[in-house]
Amino acid sequence: MFYKLLYPRPTYLVTCSYNGKSNINSIDWVMPVSVKPPALAMALGNQTQTLDLISRSKEFVLAVPPDSMKEVVLGCAKTSGKFIDKFEEFGIQTGKAQNVEAPLVAGAISQMECKVLQMMNAGDHTIILGEVVETHFPEEDRNSASPLFNKGNKTYFGFQKEWFELAKKEEKAEEKKEKEEKKEERKEEKKEKPEEKKEEKKGDEKKEEKKEEKKEERKEERKEKPEEKKEEKKEK
Ligand SMILES: Cc1cc2nc3c(=O)[nH]c(=O)nc-3n(C[C@H](O)[C@H](O)[C@H](O)COP(=O)(O)O)c2cc1C
Repeated sequence: MFYKLLYPRPTYLVTCSYNGKSNINSIDWVMPVSVKPPALAMALGNQTQTLDLISRSKEFVLAVPPDSMKEVVLGCAKTSGKFIDKFEEFGIQTGKAQNVEAPLVAGAISQMECKVLQMMNAGDHTIILGEVVETHFPEEDRNSASPLFNKGNKTYFGFQKEWFELAKKEEKAEEKKEKEEKKEERKEEKKEKPEEKKEEKKGDEKKEEKKEEKKEERKEERKEKPEEKKEEKKEK
């Protein structure tokens, strides 16, 4: 039911350890619930090995896997730690946590070491309320990491990657639009220019005509002037 109502959701890996036995599981029913103290809640199936170990040890590590760990996430969900060692089976490298026995997951985007505050049965799942006692951030920029999302219909996607691809597509479309607009502008300019030139030509032609007229006038004047001079002499 919830697959249609509440997905997509980010996926997580939860590790636990009790009495020398460690396990890792894929989950996505997780939410932050408090800032002071920092706390989160997750729902674990009542039949899972993960719930069994956490209810005994009262501690766990919640890790955010990148989309490149998709196969690990799928593998850890397919089978129970009751039957196999998932770390070995899926080649998962681990690190030592500072405050809990549960191991850290190598390659995770971020991780939280947690101590159980409360457990509550919620039906076929049990809610685990955990206080975050230690955090681990990636060395690289958190924003460049791509967490893995579960679409809910057995398909998964890397949030950041999809987002970047979408952003890139939009950027390209914008560039294309701008280029086309400029092209159109240039076309319009070209259409306008011949008219301008025609107008310019007309203007030039008129100027030439006027020049010619003036020349003619001056010639006429020169022809008239010698006569005038003769007349003047006679009078004298
Ligand atoms: C993407 C994904 C998310 C899952 N989320 C949960 C979850 O939130 N809680 C849960 O109990 N099981 C969840 N499961 C199922 C468990 O991973 C599965 O039951 C697993 O085999 C239990 O392993 P375990 O017995 O070693 O604990 C999820 C599976 C997948 C593929």
